[in-house]
Amino acid sequence: MLKIGVLGVGELTEKVVIGLRRSGFAGRVLLSPRNHERAQQLRKVWACDVMSDNQRVVDEADLLFLGVRPEVVEPLSNEVQLKPRQTLVSLVAGLKMDALQRHFPQARPVRAMLSYAAQINQSTVVITPGGEPHQTLLGALGSLIVLDQEDAFELATVAACMNGWFYFFLSDLQRWFTDKGLSHEQASQLVMGNMQDCLASALHPPHANLEVLGNAIATPGTFTAAGLDVLRRNGATQAWREAFDEVFGRLHKGS
Ligand SMILES: NC(=O)c1ccc[n+]([C@@H]2O[C@H](COP(=O)([O-])OP(=O)(O)OC[C@H]3O[C@@H](n4cnc5c(N)ncnc54)[C@H](OP(=O)(O)O)[C@@H]3O)[C@@H](O)[C@H]2O)c1
Repeated sequence: MLKIGVLGVGELTEKVVIGLRRSGFAGRVLLSPRNHERAQQLRKVWACDVMSDNQRVVDEADLLFLGVRPEVVEPLSNEVQLKPRQTLVSLVAGLKMDALQRHFPQARPVRAMLSYAAQINQSTVVITPGGEPHQTLLGALGSLIVLDQEDAFELATVAACMNGWFYFFLSDLQRWFTDKGLSHEQASQLVMGNMQDCLASALHPPHANLEVLGNAIATPGTFTAAGLDVLRRNGATQAWREAFDEVFGRLHKGS
């Protein structure tokens, strides 16, 4: 049975481990020892093994997840020696395939991008390149998108950032509701419910063009149109597009 190792037990890899266990993955899960408390919690609740050092993780695992922050990749790579063609699934945002190969010359590198919804097996999971065993393993964490081109993978990173941005937008409206006297629960239900309605309509076949859907709602004279007008006049939609360019530009600078 496949044995997986985790180098860097953090916020993200914790969700990956939980999602894999929830999906029925019964193989060994070997964790690096840093972030002692989180690693011990995963050991107790999700049947993982905490190894004494990173090299032990590498030695005992068939497939590795790399979940450290970007600045830690180089020192970590100097510390461990991978096995020939060992699959290394990097979750490190912006770290290119050639850099991965440079840091870990023995590895068979894979890049993956996913969200915290991996822990409930409902994440969008983007990988490049496809192949086994990582494709089946990661597919269990949600809805899999396999991209052959690394450039396309970088574009997908912008979508992953959007996931994070939306928490802030939704939280603003939620706070505005509670300031106006709604309970936290009512505010949350209104915000999340309406977001869910938006996605439900957008995903309902036949899939309509999103702009067509929006225009059908924001017809002239409606409250939706009035609010949209304020957003546009104040540069919200322009800023929204600039944020995509900012992230994409930074990803390119990192190459
Ligand atoms: N691909 C995606 O979809 C996606 C989404 C979000 C984040 N990310 C990426 O995921 C990575 C981790 O993000 P995160 O938010 O999970 O960070 P995090 O919570 O800080 O996790 C990183 C972990 O690495 C550990 N660590 C540090 N040095 C180490 C070493 N030499 N050996 C082993 N472990 C070491 C840290 O332990 P200590 O606490 O003891 O220092 C920490 O627990 C980042 O590179 C980020 O770009 C990717």
